[in-house]
Amino acid sequence: MNNNSNLKKGSLVCVSTGMQLGAHISPISQSHIENADIVFAVMADGIMQKWVESMNPNVFNMQQFYQKGKPRSDTYEEMMQTMLSEMRKGKNVVGAFYGHAGVFVTPSHKAIAIAKAEGYYAHMEPGISAEDCLFADCGINPGQLGCANYEATQLVFYQRNIDACGYLILWQANIVGDRTLIKRATNRKYRQLLVDVLSEHYPLEHEVILYEAPTLAIDSPRVESITLGDFINAPLKPHTTLVLPPSKPLRRNADIFEQYEQLEANVVQLELVK
Ligand SMILES: C[S@@+](CC[C@H](N)C(=O)[O-])C[C@H]1O[C@@H](n2cnc3c(N)ncnc32)[C@H](O)[C@@H]1O
Repeated sequence: MNNNSNLKKGSLVCVSTGMQLGAHISPISQSHIENADIVFAVMADGIMQKWVESMNPNVFNMQQFYQKGKPRSDTYEEMMQTMLSEMRKGKNVVGAFYGHAGVFVTPSHKAIAIAKAEGYYAHMEPGISAEDCLFADCGINPGQLGCANYEATQLVFYQRNIDACGYLILWQANIVGDRTLIKRATNRKYRQLLVDVLSEHYPLEHEVILYEAPTLAIDSPRVESITLGDFINAPLKPHTTLVLPPSKPLRRNADIFEQYEQLEANVVQLELVK
């Protein structure tokens, strides 16, 4: 794990356990969990937590850092400091995160950056995120028309260039509009802010998808089509991701097409001269 003699004793590896219990984890992530001195886990539910606990006798559940009235930024800081503090004692620490450990996860990225800056061995093992499941379950190929990902609240409060010719995937839709980082769900007034922003680019009748990946093999995904206008009252869960399929066709870049045609004509002329 740590062959560089200049590195300090102790390491941090943040691994991804995937979305589905037992089915998505990579052999290398599993091996890191099994061989760690201590594992700090953030799992999607209690069953997943128990599954991680079955792989190593020393697993600490970091979900307990989330508390009513406590800003999520404080929770992330606590998770990060907890992992780093054990690493600084010389232990081989694993942070196990459901889905992909680096997709919409703050403490993993920050802790790895700090560990490296302090001279410890640290890295992240990639994995299967909610978006990977979404591509499979919703039949979306991001290469066909392009695809952008945003945290829903950030999209509301900052001016971004929304491209309605491609797919738009919005994470943390159930807390959209919460700038306090405290709320566990927001109501229709906050959701209206998102609909207002989106309705500049999509009609209210545009069909959008509420997506939930199953965490157990026996469950089915939620792939529910509703109109953008209906999003205001839609039943959302903390793990619901909102997908907006394109509402506009691709538009040709006429200037580039013209340049391309000249380029091709020049190539033909050169071929003829040869
Ligand atoms: C803190 S992020 C964690 C994402 C996770 N690391 C991943 O790789 O997918 C939480 C957000 O991920 C999305 N998410 C989490 N679980 C999901 C699921 N089962 N189905 C669909 N989206 C999910 C939702 O947008 C949710 O608000």
